[in-house]
Amino acid sequence: MNVIFLGPPGAGKGTQSKRLEEQYGLVQISTGDMLRAEVARGSDIGKQAKSLMDAGKLVPDELIIAMLHSRIGQPDCAKGFILDGFPRTLGQADALDKMLSAENKKIDVVLFLDVDEDILADRISGRFTCSKCGATYNEVSKPPKKEGECDVCGSHEFKRRADDKRETVVERLKEYRNLTAPILPFYEKTGRLYKINGMLPTAQVTADIEAVMAGK
Ligand code: AP5
Repeated sequence: MNVIFLGPPGAGKGTQSKRLEEQYGLVQISTGDMLRAEVARGSDIGKQAKSLMDAGKLVPDELIIAMLHSRIGQPDCAKGFILDGFPRTLGQADALDKMLSAENKKIDVVLFLDVDEDILADRISGRFTCSKCGATYNEVSKPPKKEGECDVCGSHEFKRRADDKRETVVERLKEYRNLTAPILPFYEKTGRLYKINGMLPTAQVTADIEAVMAGK
């Protein structure tokens, strides 16, 4: 089974993909995480992507399509994958269908996490992760059990994403509205799009996603 998560920044795509990955044994592929790893490595891709990401802009289609193509060709993706953050433009959606059909594969379900814009900025600015093990937290919806200490590894060091500043979030939302939201009809017309209310508590969102997956 191959799944796409669509939704604006902060909608919960990463949170829900990790849950689905554990439950269905699918591989989560986050293009944002892949790009951040390239930036941290200082690779050519990372150098091209960094300033755009810091400004809240999308990186060019050619770069991201090539990166994704090579990732889904790896053996661990044979059983199925979850795309978190891809596609983000009509060009990417079209390229994805073409690269999959060349291998007799397809996207089975597209889960659209619908969240009102006024909620997103608060969610994103409250997000932080453990610097040591990468466990994810949120000041409001998911604080560590003991303040200042990671539940998973006990570390006291946390970090925030460079693009989670409020002014950058405004740009990311603009990019979403202009370039990513137009993808929704692309999937709707082929009957693959399922709209999920992403404003409900995390566990309820997971349950609603599982109900869709159970019918597939
Ligand atoms: P990327 O890393 O993909 O960021 P994003 O799409 O902006 O999404 P986020 O990771 O911010 O949010 P999310 O939906 O995963 O929410 P999360 O689960 O973390 O992309 C970053 C940049 O990389 C882009 O701006 C672009 O430059 C570049 N890029 C990446 N892919 C690209 C592509 N395909 N093409 C071009 N450029 C690309 O949740 C957010 C917070 O809310 C968390 O704290 C979480 O705990 C909390 N939360 C989640 N669900 C709930 C809930 N139901 N109730 C309350 N709180 C919740």
